[in-house]
Amino acid sequence: MNESIHMHRAEKLWLRFGFLMLAIFLATITTASIIDGISPPSRVQTIDPTKVAQTPPFDHPGVRKISPGHYEVYYVAQIFSFNPQSISIPVGSHVTFYITSSDVEHGFYIPATGVNTMVTPGWVSSVSHTFTKTGKFLIVCHEYCGAGHQFMAGSIEVQ
Ligand code: CUA
Repeated sequence: MNESIHMHRAEKLWLRFGFLMLAIFLATITTASIIDGISPPSRVQTIDPTKVAQTPPFDHPGVRKISPGHYEVYYVAQIFSFNPQSISIPVGSHVTFYITSSDVEHGFYIPATGVNTMVTPGWVSSVSHTFTKTGKFLIVCHEYCGAGHQFMAGSIEVQ
């Protein structure tokens, strides 16, 4: 009796394809993490979502100048607005946004930039961008958060 496992040719090909895809995905992830410096969110900050209004620096949301050309902006997302609603920064600025929610899940998306993050109650999302062009940028909430979701927006004036 022949006990060796007999595999159909198509099955072998399919297995090879599976291993090949796995190798490609692993290579992609490795390349992204080592060469492009992409990583999962780390050093994530937590916050009590019921005490956002009393927790520095979110008790005073807004723009902080860190050094020439470097800014930090603290945002509180709440149904159905961003606080601050509009800000103004000089062109060429490197801006790090820190966003938290005092109620439900929101989104923080600035079209035409790489800024795109979810805003989860209890957590501080952070994302950076260098504004190289003047103009008005829109901030939109892109996570459905309730009846007024489509009106939840803010703006950034780059001068
Ligand atoms: Cu906030 Cu949708």
